[in-house]
Amino acid sequence: MAETINQWAVITIVLSGLALIVGVYLIKRGLREAHMRAMIVASTLATIFLVLYLTRLGLGYEKKYAGPEEWRTAYFVLLISHIILAAANLPLALGALWNAYKGLKAARTLNNIDLPAARGYFNKHRAWVRWTVPVWLYVAVTGWIIYLVLHSYGEVIKS
Ligand code: HEM
Repeated sequence: MAETINQWAVITIVLSGLALIVGVYLIKRGLREAHMRAMIVASTLATIFLVLYLTRLGLGYEKKYAGPEEWRTAYFVLLISHIILAAANLPLALGALWNAYKGLKAARTLNNIDLPAARGYFNKHRAWVRWTVPVWLYVAVTGWIIYLVLHSYGEVIKS
Protein backbone atom coordinates (compact mmCIF):
# COMPACT_ATOMS: atom_id res chain seq x y z
CA MET A 1 0.00 0.00 0.00
CA ALA A 2 2.69 2.53 1.06
CA GLU A 3 4.80 1.43 -1.93
CA THR A 4 1.86 2.16 -4.30
CA ILE A 5 1.34 5.59 -2.69
CA ASN A 6 5.06 6.22 -3.12
CA GLN A 7 4.89 5.36 -6.82
CA TRP A 8 1.89 7.64 -7.38
CA ALA A 9 3.68 10.42 -5.49
CA VAL A 10 6.60 10.12 -7.89
CA ILE A 11 4.31 10.07 -10.95
CA THR A 12 2.46 13.23 -9.80
CA ILE A 13 5.68 15.13 -9.05
CA VAL A 14 7.25 14.15 -12.39
CA LEU A 15 4.12 15.33 -14.24
CA SER A 16 4.04 18.52 -12.14
CA GLY A 17 7.66 19.32 -13.14
CA LEU A 18 6.80 18.68 -16.81
CA ALA A 19 3.70 20.93 -16.61
CA LEU A 20 5.90 23.66 -15.07
CA ILE A 21 8.40 23.43 -17.97
CA VAL A 22 5.54 23.51 -20.50
CA GLY A 23 3.95 26.50 -18.70
CA VAL A 24 7.20 28.51 -18.77
CA TYR A 25 7.66 27.68 -22.47
CA LEU A 26 4.07 28.83 -23.19
CA ILE A 27 4.46 32.23 -21.49
CA LYS A 28 7.77 32.78 -23.31
CA ARG A 29 5.73 32.39 -26.52
CA GLY A 30 3.12 34.86 -25.20
CA LEU A 31 0.36 32.25 -24.75
CA ARG A 32 -1.11 33.54 -21.49
CA GLU A 33 -4.29 31.44 -21.33
CA ALA A 34 -2.38 28.21 -21.99
CA HIS A 35 0.30 29.33 -19.48
CA MET A 36 -2.37 29.79 -16.81
CA ARG A 37 -3.84 26.32 -17.48
CA ALA A 38 -0.43 24.61 -17.42
CA MET A 39 0.46 26.33 -14.12
CA ILE A 40 -2.85 25.37 -12.52
CA VAL A 41 -2.21 21.75 -13.59
CA ALA A 42 1.37 21.95 -12.22
CA SER A 43 0.15 23.38 -8.89
CA THR A 44 -2.70 20.84 -8.57
CA LEU A 45 -0.33 17.93 -9.22
CA ALA A 46 2.16 19.33 -6.69
CA THR A 47 -0.67 19.56 -4.11
CA ILE A 48 -1.69 15.93 -4.79
CA PHE A 49 1.97 14.97 -4.41
CA LEU A 50 2.13 16.71 -1.02
CA VAL A 51 -0.99 14.87 0.22
CA LEU A 52 0.38 11.48 -0.97
CA TYR A 53 3.80 12.20 0.51
CA LEU A 54 2.34 13.15 3.91
CA THR A 55 0.05 10.08 3.84
CA ARG A 56 3.09 7.89 3.17
CA LEU A 57 4.96 9.49 6.08
CA GLY A 58 1.88 8.98 8.27
CA LEU A 59 1.94 5.28 7.37
CA GLY A 60 5.51 5.18 8.68
CA TYR A 61 7.06 4.21 5.35
CA GLU A 62 10.64 5.47 5.04
CA LYS A 63 13.74 4.40 3.16
CA LYS A 64 17.28 4.94 4.30
CA TYR A 65 20.38 5.23 2.14
CA ALA A 66 22.33 1.96 1.96
CA GLY A 67 24.50 2.70 -1.07
CA PRO A 68 28.26 3.10 -1.53
CA GLU A 69 29.97 4.88 1.40
CA GLU A 70 31.90 7.28 -0.87
CA TRP A 71 28.59 8.69 -2.14
CA ARG A 72 26.95 9.09 1.28
CA THR A 73 28.01 12.75 1.84
CA ALA A 74 27.00 13.80 -1.68
CA TYR A 75 23.64 12.05 -1.20
CA PHE A 76 22.97 13.88 2.09
CA VAL A 77 23.94 17.28 0.65
CA LEU A 78 21.45 16.62 -2.15
CA LEU A 79 18.78 15.40 0.28
CA ILE A 80 19.12 18.34 2.71
CA SER A 81 19.16 20.98 -0.05
CA HIS A 82 16.11 19.24 -1.54
CA ILE A 83 14.19 19.32 1.78
CA ILE A 84 15.03 22.99 2.54
CA LEU A 85 14.08 24.18 -0.94
CA ALA A 86 10.95 21.98 -1.06
CA ALA A 87 9.74 23.74 2.10
CA ALA A 88 10.57 27.14 0.53
CA ASN A 89 8.76 26.21 -2.69
CA LEU A 90 5.31 26.23 -1.06
CA PRO A 91 5.27 29.95 -0.05
CA LEU A 92 7.03 30.85 -3.33
CA ALA A 93 4.36 29.11 -5.43
CA LEU A 94 1.57 30.62 -3.28
CA GLY A 95 3.05 34.12 -3.74
CA ALA A 96 3.21 33.64 -7.52
CA LEU A 97 -0.33 32.23 -7.70
CA TRP A 98 -1.80 34.89 -5.40
CA ASN A 99 -0.42 37.77 -7.49
CA ALA A 100 -1.51 36.10 -10.75
CA TYR A 101 -5.01 35.65 -9.26
CA LYS A 102 -5.25 39.26 -8.03
CA GLY A 103 -3.90 40.49 -11.38
CA LEU A 104 -6.43 38.44 -13.34
CA LYS A 105 -9.26 39.69 -11.12
CA ALA A 106 -8.18 43.31 -11.67
CA ALA A 107 -7.69 42.81 -15.43
CA ARG A 108 -10.85 40.65 -15.83
CA THR A 109 -9.28 38.97 -18.90
CA LEU A 110 -5.73 38.00 -19.76
CA ASN A 111 -5.86 40.43 -22.71
CA ASN A 112 -5.87 43.38 -20.26
CA ILE A 113 -2.84 42.66 -18.09
CA ASP A 114 -1.44 46.15 -18.77
CA LEU A 115 -4.42 47.92 -17.15
CA PRO A 116 -2.97 50.09 -14.33
CA ALA A 117 -4.95 48.16 -11.69
CA ALA A 118 -3.55 44.83 -12.89
CA ARG A 119 -0.02 45.77 -13.96
CA GLY A 120 1.35 45.98 -10.40
CA TYR A 121 0.17 42.44 -9.59
CA PHE A 122 1.71 40.99 -12.75
CA ASN A 123 4.98 42.81 -12.03
CA LYS A 124 4.93 41.19 -8.59
CA HIS A 125 4.04 37.86 -10.24
CA ARG A 126 7.15 38.17 -12.42
CA ALA A 127 9.27 39.03 -9.37
CA TRP A 128 7.99 35.96 -7.45
CA VAL A 129 8.43 33.53 -10.36
CA ARG A 130 12.07 34.57 -10.81
CA TRP A 131 12.62 32.53 -7.62
CA THR A 132 9.71 30.09 -7.83
CA VAL A 133 10.65 28.54 -11.19
CA PRO A 134 14.33 27.70 -10.46
CA VAL A 135 13.52 26.47 -6.93
CA TRP A 136 10.60 24.32 -8.18
CA LEU A 137 12.77 22.83 -10.93
CA TYR A 138 15.63 22.10 -8.52
CA VAL A 139 13.20 20.41 -6.11
CA ALA A 140 11.61 18.36 -8.92
CA VAL A 141 14.91 17.20 -10.46
CA THR A 142 16.60 16.39 -7.12
CA GLY A 143 13.39 14.60 -6.04
CA TRP A 144 13.59 12.34 -9.08
CA ILE A 145 17.32 11.69 -8.40
CA ILE A 146 16.62 10.83 -4.74
CA TYR A 147 13.83 8.45 -5.81
CA LEU A 148 16.13 6.70 -8.30
CA VAL A 149 18.97 6.44 -5.74
CA LEU A 150 16.64 4.97 -3.09
CA HIS A 151 15.08 2.67 -5.69
CA SER A 152 18.51 1.08 -6.27
CA TYR A 153 20.20 1.61 -2.89
CA GLY A 154 17.35 2.18 -0.40
CA GLU A 155 16.45 0.01 2.57
CA VAL A 156 12.88 0.18 3.87
CA ILE A 157 12.52 1.22 7.51
CA LYS A 158 9.11 0.49 9.03
CA SER A 159 8.27 2.31 12.26
C1 HEM B 1 2.97 29.03 -9.49
C2 HEM B 1 2.49 29.09 -10.72
C3 HEM B 1 3.08 29.98 -11.80
C4 HEM B 1 4.39 30.11 -12.19
C5 HEM B 1 5.59 29.37 -11.65
C6 HEM B 1 4.42 31.09 -13.28
C7 HEM B 1 5.54 31.46 -14.00
C8 HEM B 1 5.61 32.52 -14.86
C9 HEM B 1 6.78 32.94 -15.60
C10 HEM B 1 8.16 32.25 -15.57
C11 HEM B 1 6.47 34.07 -16.31
C12 HEM B 1 7.40 34.87 -17.23
C13 HEM B 1 8.03 36.02 -16.44
C14 HEM B 1 9.00 36.82 -17.27
O1 HEM B 1 9.16 36.56 -18.47
O2 HEM B 1 9.60 37.74 -16.69
C15 HEM B 1 5.06 34.34 -16.05
C16 HEM B 1 4.36 35.39 -16.59
C17 HEM B 1 3.00 35.49 -16.55
N1 HEM B 1 2.13 34.68 -15.84
FE1 HEM B 1 2.63 33.14 -14.69
N2 HEM B 1 3.14 31.55 -13.48
C18 HEM B 1 2.29 30.89 -12.62
C19 HEM B 1 0.92 31.00 -12.55
C20 HEM B 1 0.17 31.87 -13.32
C21 HEM B 1 -1.27 31.93 -13.32
C22 HEM B 1 -2.21 31.04 -12.48
C23 HEM B 1 -1.62 32.92 -14.21
C24 HEM B 1 -3.01 33.37 -14.58
C25 HEM B 1 -3.72 34.19 -13.94
C26 HEM B 1 -0.40 33.50 -14.73
C27 HEM B 1 -0.32 34.56 -15.60
C28 HEM B 1 0.84 35.13 -16.11
C29 HEM B 1 0.90 36.27 -16.98
C30 HEM B 1 -0.30 37.07 -17.52
C31 HEM B 1 2.24 36.52 -17.27
C32 HEM B 1 2.83 37.64 -18.13
C33 HEM B 1 3.12 38.81 -17.22
C34 HEM B 1 3.74 39.98 -17.97
O3 HEM B 1 3.89 39.92 -19.20
O4 HEM B 1 4.07 40.94 -17.30
N3 HEM B 1 0.67 32.83 -14.19
N4 HEM B 1 4.57 33.40 -15.16
